[in-house]
Amino acid sequence: MSNTVDCSTITIRSVRIEDIGEVYRLLVANRPYVGLNSRYTYFLLARDFSNTCLVAIDGSRIAAFSSGYVSPTRPDTFFSWEIVVDAVYRGNGLQQRLLLNQLYKTTAKYLECTVNPSNLVSEHNFVKLAKLLGVGCSKSLLFSEEDFGHNGHEAEFLLCIGPISSGSLQNLIRKYG
Ligand SMILES: CC(C)(COP(=O)(O)OP(=O)(O)OC[C@H]1O[C@@H](n2cnc3c(N)ncnc32)[C@H](O)[C@@H]1OP(=O)(O)O)[C@@H](O)C(=O)NCCC(=O)NCCS
Repeated sequence: MSNTVDCSTITIRSVRIEDIGEVYRLLVANRPYVGLNSRYTYFLLARDFSNTCLVAIDGSRIAAFSSGYVSPTRPDTFFSWEIVVDAVYRGNGLQQRLLLNQLYKTTAKYLECTVNPSNLVSEHNFVKLAKLLGVGCSKSLLFSEEDFGHNGHEAEFLLCIGPISSGSLQNLIRKYG
């Protein structure tokens, strides 16, 4: 069910260094669903990866943040790292909108991400995006609990979506972007 907040005026833009304080607060509020890295990491994302690390803005408020990058070794693949939508703005498809905008800024044919077994909403949204793009979505184990040293971190399953055609991406950007 969607929240009653009006999302029609929300805009998407690259993350800036001055956004990181607010982004960090959003990430802290959503642990453990998102892993929390150092502020330094997010400063680097804003400095060097801002083409594919985006925020959704409502007035001056950050409604959502999504990070990711094009793989340096596989330039046809965009890896979606972390996405967080402020609880107030959830239920309005912002995850999907951010992912579409990130993909649109690249020439990637494949979208990869990892999901935890307990994060059903995130997985649902990626599978739904694959359906909208008219492509398949494969799932395989990427990092096991053993890889994390059995420290309580869930396994991370890799979802791979594609091959994505620029035509279908453009159509979705026109509709949802
Ligand atoms: C995951 C997240 C980014 C999605 O936010 P969002 O863009 O507002 O997503 P929406 O609320 O619009 O979409 C929710 C969808 O999941 C579905 N859903 C809700 N609960 C579900 C569940 N338990 N199992 C499966 N699907 C579920 C809803 O029906 C909806 O699907 P629909 O659009 O087909 O009807 C947001 O919940 C969030 O920030 N969570 C905390 C951080 C996080 O988990 N990030 C992802 C890992 S890095």
